[in-house]
Amino acid sequence: MSSTYPQTQSAIIITEFGEADVLQYRSDMVVPSLDTGMVLVKIAYAGINPVDYKTRQGLGWGAQSIKDNQFAANQPAILGFDMAGEVVDSTVADFKPGDKVAALNFQGGCYAQYNTVDAQVLTKVPEAVDLKTAGALPCVGTTAKQMIDFADIKPGEHVVMSAPAGGVGHLTLQMLVNAIEEKGIKITLICSAEKYQKIGSFIDLSKLEGWIDYTKQEAFPELEADLLLDLVGGEAGKKALAVVKTGGRVVVLPSIWADELKKAGADKQLQVEGFIAKPNAQDLAAVLNQIAQGKLVLQIQDTYPLAKTADAHQALETGDSFGKIVLEM
Ligand SMILES: NC(=O)c1ccc[n+]([C@@H]2O[C@H](COP(=O)([O-])OP(=O)(O)OC[C@H]3O[C@@H](n4cnc5c(N)ncnc54)[C@H](OP(=O)(O)O)[C@@H]3O)[C@@H](O)[C@H]2O)c1
Repeated sequence: MSSTYPQTQSAIIITEFGEADVLQYRSDMVVPSLDTGMVLVKIAYAGINPVDYKTRQGLGWGAQSIKDNQFAANQPAILGFDMAGEVVDSTVADFKPGDKVAALNFQGGCYAQYNTVDAQVLTKVPEAVDLKTAGALPCVGTTAKQMIDFADIKPGEHVVMSAPAGGVGHLTLQMLVNAIEEKGIKITLICSAEKYQKIGSFIDLSKLEGWIDYTKQEAFPELEADLLLDLVGGEAGKKALAVVKTGGRVVVLPSIWADELKKAGADKQLQVEGFIAKPNAQDLAAVLNQIAQGKLVLQIQDTYPLAKTADAHQALETGDSFGKIVLEM
């Protein structure tokens, strides 16, 4: 069963890697056809994430996949791993036309009005969650949940995290704050004064153990923390190792930096591990439910029309975001 839908659509394509100007708006792209196990979704909103601009620059697994598949076949690629919208055609019984759905879709193709998505990674959006929030959520929500599960935080532990106002960070922070009472954990943040003030709009700052303003040119305090959640990497990540106790744990989200941080933390025998999120419909459903119940708030910094995707990339690339940037189809 299907709703009616056109054969062509608007989308943002790339035919080469590079700066944001390689993103081209096209209104004559073919709407993809359905294979078994797939669902065709009319996308309402697509989140953009740092992995998108890294892929556009030709970096990482996303770019490798484009090289091996689309570019090797002389085809353009459509970026975008996050989406929420409405089912228009389906090959599986669990999803039917009219269903509101969201997914983290590592096959890409979400900077478009329509995309086919594997039903295994698709989840229904609860009534109480709007599609803009659902479209902004998949990558950051899945990552925040899976990273906290991976970190296996024990009762009473002191956790330090960086970039608590960014896409992943602002959800991770709320999940940690929600665990303070149950687990008795302590939380210290590493961020700018501007972001520290802004996150007071979605958490009670008095619940925090402390805050480090990394923009001051001073050494970080030796907090003897049990765990560092490093959402920044690079020199900032190395500097932040000072807060962790000897033998403590470090989870590095920009996982490309894990080996360097491991070397930098060797004298303190730090257990440093990179973490990589994976699409998972149950994890996304769990985070959508937390939003529906008011336990989490997803902050939308800005919404751009599809045709202005290059501007949206440039805004995210400044590294200064407060919450999420979203594309509206
Ligand atoms: N491995 C995975 O599966 C996975 C999944 C998702 C994301 N990631 C990676 O994780 C990182 C974070 O993702 P995101 O979506 O949250 O990024 P984002 O939204 O771009 O994060 C921006 C935030 O970073 C903060 N920041 C920048 N430099 C900082 C520094 N030196 N110290 C502390 N905070 C700093 C900024 O606030 P200030 O004003 O405080 O600077 C800003 O709020 C990215 O590198 C992304 O590629 C990895």
